Amino acid sequence: MIKRKHLLIIIFLVLIILFLFVFCSLINKHDVINKIIKKEENTYSYLINYPYFNNDKVDNYVDNYLSERINTIILDNGDLFIDYDYNIKDNNIFIKFYEYVTKLNTIKENIYEINYDYELDNIIKKRVFEEDNYDILNYTKSDKMVAFTFDDGPSYNTIKIVNTLVKYDSKATFFLVGNQVEKYAKTMDVLVKNGMDIGNHTYSHKELTKLRDKEILKEIDLTNEVIYNKTGIKPMFLRPSYGAMNKRIKKLSTMPIIIWNIDTLDWKYHNSNKIKDKILKYVSDGDIILMHDTYVATLNAVEMVIPELKKQGYKIVSVSELFKYKGVKPKLGIGYGYVGGRNE
Ligand code: NI
Repeated sequence: MIKRKHLLIIIFLVLIILFLFVFCSLINKHDVINKIIKKEENTYSYLINYPYFNNDKVDNYVDNYLSERINTIILDNGDLFIDYDYNIKDNNIFIKFYEYVTKLNTIKENIYEINYDYELDNIIKKRVFEEDNYDILNYTKSDKMVAFTFDDGPSYNTIKIVNTLVKYDSKATFFLVGNQVEKYAKTMDVLVKNGMDIGNHTYSHKELTKLRDKEILKEIDLTNEVIYNKTGIKPMFLRPSYGAMNKRIKKLSTMPIIIWNIDTLDWKYHNSNKIKDKILKYVSDGDIILMHDTYVATLNAVEMVIPELKKQGYKIVSVSELFKYKGVKPKLGIGYGYVGGRNE
């Protein structure tokens, strides 16, 4: 027979054990939540335009590969960008993935190549390292010139493009998106230090033709302001986002407008050979070429196409240089797709 006193003690003990159990599990749960939050805070992963290859096997493989990479890489302090460049040759798809880890202003590169054979229906993945196959060519003096322009930066990839241009003693105009400027302080320094031309590509990459006058001016002015505050440089040219331009924009713009006459479609294909071939097929003196410094395929294309253009006697210049060399004074109210040259 249990005494009332003993019963009370037993109940008390059971209650303490229960309390401890609940308390401990709460702590554990709290710990796990903390870890998840920490992981999320530290992991910023970006995938640039997901690729589709119209082949289930390749698409699935790429999908799995990318999500696996994104999920397994935990970064202490930095962003991970996964970008790609692909080519199709002899019944094979060659896809190179580039992983950029931005940490403390340095970029680490991992390149994986996936090779799909249509005939064998087989995928091989291997890790590769980029070889520098391109010799530096001496500049051939010539009157022929072409302006390279890069939109949508600054981005994780911009410094690499600048380095390539510098390597080939070339210049270009970078049309920057205002709201990106603050995020890439180091990149801004590199652009200025290497004498690249800085242009205005609106503040938030909106289609200006759909905005009211006041908003259009705000998009332009705010961009000039952030660029000036960061670099002390006043951009000379405007390139409206999407090239969206009409009479009203031309009239409103406080700067000459620059469009293009060769569109490489780099954003669409991510294919360095296609970009290179398009330029070489259509290029003529005085052209303005549209590219984006936000893609690795563009970087690879620039590396391949500059030596080819130089062989043909072209000098690669910025838009302001193009005006200068061609003896043309840029005017307000005009959208320039080329300057001087055989086009005129
Ligand atoms: Ni753009």
